[in-house]
Amino acid sequence: MTQKPSILVARAVFPGVIEKLSQHFVVDANQDDVLFTPDQLKQRLQGKQGVFTTGSERIDAGVLAVCPSLKICANMAVGYNNFDLDAMTAAGVLATNAPDVLTETTADFGFALMMATARRIAESEHFLRAGLWNRWRYDMFTGTEVHGSTLGIVGMGRIGQGIAKRGALGFGMKVIYHNRSQLDAATEAQCHATYVGKEELLRTADHVVLVVPYSAASHHTIGAPELALMKSTATLTNVARGGIVDDAALAKALREGQIAAAGLDVFEGEPSVHPDLLTVPNVVLTPHIASATVGTRRAMANLAADNLIGFLVSCKPVTPLNPQVLP
Ligand code: GLV
Repeated sequence: MTQKPSILVARAVFPGVIEKLSQHFVVDANQDDVLFTPDQLKQRLQGKQGVFTTGSERIDAGVLAVCPSLKICANMAVGYNNFDLDAMTAAGVLATNAPDVLTETTADFGFALMMATARRIAESEHFLRAGLWNRWRYDMFTGTEVHGSTLGIVGMGRIGQGIAKRGALGFGMKVIYHNRSQLDAATEAQCHATYVGKEELLRTADHVVLVVPYSAASHHTIGAPELALMKSTATLTNVARGGIVDDAALAKALREGQIAAAGLDVFEGEPSVHPDLLTVPNVVLTPHIASATVGTRRAMANLAADNLIGFLVSCKPVTPLNPQVLP
């Protein structure tokens, strides 16, 4: 009998997924959810052909150089900025991510975070819980209109398109977007969205929502100069990645009333959060949970597992990022 391939599951995951993987592999499962240092990760990868990652494990040339048995890294995330894809391709290591299964759930959350931000839901709840509510007032927690306003989406991939449809069809919003490339006319029509330059988007949107993947080119897509272009009544929501926004500049803009409010699910250097963001009231902060429903997280974990099984068992990964390494 041939020996089963060995894999590492680098973070805790649904027990059913570990059981499924165990039917095909010798599994080293980190169900205690220890956060490996880079050296510990390299050590645990010794002799492994595959690794199930979650976005918190960095796979780069340094890791690949000392893990020659590694053939596939399967991310349980649609974003894969934890992978150095060029280095993986150069080393002949397959990378896979988990697209599609989280699109609608993440679009729901992006829209919810934008609405919570516009309507000051977290800030007013903190006020109530602090026992400060002693009367109704005409101007208490007045926010920014959502229905009928202008929604500006930066990054019009699958999730951006989902948010656009929610805004246009559900809330009668005018939708403008900016993207590396303009969408084809049929997709624009389905999303009821109009392509504009980044500066026009920032100047005219009432609600700016960021859904752009992180890369060196998208680092600080929103910093002090961009915040200065936005309306003082506008909101900014980031469900993309930390580093897309300059968090220090954002905290300053929020404190100075340069924009009305922000909603952030992702942070530079998370799980650390810039201390200035923790002290400004007009920001809704959530701990990177945009895809977090039980059904979607299960689907993401199963897709990562299916990529490992598909590739290591029959050389047919489901969602390869660098298919050029396939034989
Ligand atoms: C979550 O952030 C993901 O990329 O799936």
